[in-house]
Amino acid sequence: MCGIVGIVGHSPVAPLIVDALKRLEYRGYDSAGVATLDHGDLARRRAEGKLVNLERRLASEPLGGTIGIGHTRWATHGVPNETNAHPHFAENVAIVHNGIIENFAELRDELSSEGFVFTSQTDTEVVAHLIARELRQGKAPQEAAFNALKRLRGAFALAIMFRGDEDMIIGARNGPPLAVGHGEGEMYLGSDAIALAPFTDSITYLEDGDWVIVRRGGMQIFDMDGQPVERACQKSIGTSFLVDKGNHRHFMEKEIHEQPEVISHTLANYLDFSTSRVGAFETPFDFAKIDRLAISACGTAYLAGLIGKYWFERYARLPVDIDIASEFRYREMPLSKESAALFISQSGETADTLASLRYCRSEGLPISAIVNVRESTIARESDGIFPTLAGPEIGVASTKAFTCQLSVLAALALKAAKARGRITFEEEVDLVRQLSEAPRYASQVLKLSERIESVARELSHVRHVLYLGRDTNYPLAMEGALKLKEISYIHAEGYAAGELKHGPIALIDEQMPVIVIAPHDHIFEKTVSNMQEVAARGGRIILITDEKGARKATIKTLDTIVMPDVPEFLSPIVYALPIQLLAYHTAVFMGTDVDQPRNLAKSVTVE
Ligand code: F6R
Repeated sequence: MCGIVGIVGHSPVAPLIVDALKRLEYRGYDSAGVATLDHGDLARRRAEGKLVNLERRLASEPLGGTIGIGHTRWATHGVPNETNAHPHFAENVAIVHNGIIENFAELRDELSSEGFVFTSQTDTEVVAHLIARELRQGKAPQEAAFNALKRLRGAFALAIMFRGDEDMIIGARNGPPLAVGHGEGEMYLGSDAIALAPFTDSITYLEDGDWVIVRRGGMQIFDMDGQPVERACQKSIGTSFLVDKGNHRHFMEKEIHEQPEVISHTLANYLDFSTSRVGAFETPFDFAKIDRLAISACGTAYLAGLIGKYWFERYARLPVDIDIASEFRYREMPLSKESAALFISQSGETADTLASLRYCRSEGLPISAIVNVRESTIARESDGIFPTLAGPEIGVASTKAFTCQLSVLAALALKAAKARGRITFEEEVDLVRQLSEAPRYASQVLKLSERIESVARELSHVRHVLYLGRDTNYPLAMEGALKLKEISYIHAEGYAAGELKHGPIALIDEQMPVIVIAPHDHIFEKTVSNMQEVAARGGRIILITDEKGARKATIKTLDTIVMPDVPEFLSPIVYALPIQLLAYHTAVFMGTDVDQPRNLAKSVTVE
């Protein structure tokens, strides 16, 4: 979370920094700021709220200077206001920070007792004062920064600038990502290569514990012992995308509509459409030789993994342990040496998922990851990756990344089934054919958008919603609830339909809409029984099913969304679309900030 950028350039940098921050706004958007060295002196502009407020401030009060740092914030310590916005200054030091300084309270007490005065509630300001104290003691800026870094505990990426030195920014990484960009007589620092895409595609990623001195003429990286270290410079791929909504009102709407295309691209990477066989892609472990698969992820990616569990277990007879990464990383789960680990992350930077990966690495497991950002930390630390080809996802609520993750998981389940001798040649051909139809079904569902909009109008008047489903539609019910709450702020819960009577049924009354995801599958009749239980208590059912299901469920519903007839195997991919559209249209009716909902950020690099 939080995006940071630094430029040691040869033209005025403030507009360039703002341009880079636009590409980082997905990391946080509750305030933003830029500092430069203008005629040798530190100057800054900060603004609460979206980046556009900072742009307005800079338009009326421009900043000069050819060296500068910038920040877009997702608040951890201190409310989102201008005072807590970065960059923070302390005497001759300016600093921007992404992450959490865990020992900030103790450091703050120490510095306060020595007379250092804090002007913000942030943890970041302690770092600025720590460096300022070193400078007061006569240390050179590099040494001052290094000494201060050694005092920090927690996760951080930092960019630091010093009054009087117009040719140096110091960067440091311990956790959240930080990349150095190499230009022609200019150098850059950024939270990711996307931020630096307009300036350069030559990127060096810092590793944990690295810190770097960046000057116009080049850079030098050091480790935490102060020893110089070499890190490869690589060509960044596919980062210069247009931040453009096309004809859509929101990025989320655009990304929902991109799904037929991106699912198709993703599947083409894993399936051989010409022979209807699983493709010959490499895996970092042999599915035939493992006895368990440990999957770990957060949020929507976790729910994709949960659907994957059904597929791996059903088709490949491969037992899956799946965990929310923030739990997995601390619960000291015993891992069999015959198991392999799979992580799922759109951004590839999620702190908890990365920590889980490192835990599995320390346990000696082969590591694989489904990622959308191929140059991300999770991708780089894996033994092998399974990319999703969703393209950049800008809307904070994940949509196309989710269905692409499902597409990869479905293909992997078939790969595993084949390797483990659990499907015949004919079954493989049949399932691959089914899967390759997913983009066509997704296109058909998009045509239901207006119909779903009319259902959303109803939903926008309620405060609570339940989602129910069985089998793979159970994680989908949770995903529906997650989507609705994060962008419309309506309270929603997703349950396994069979679990309803064990508690949540107490919530059912005439006010409670219950969205039931029930294609006519092997478990349909069981779900219908659960719907009966809801109907008997006056609950208002919104049923998402296919024609057969609509015919057979003879229950009075508030509304029924009739989907195309979809083979059971791929139904979670296709049924993801109506729940996304339902959340989207509801949020639009409610007038919320669909692409940048309150309190959220796209890349969660703190735990
Ligand atoms: C919800 C959403 C989040 C992410 C989660 C993991 O719409 O987008 O729940 O799925 O923060 O993020 P990644 O996939 O980047 O690890």
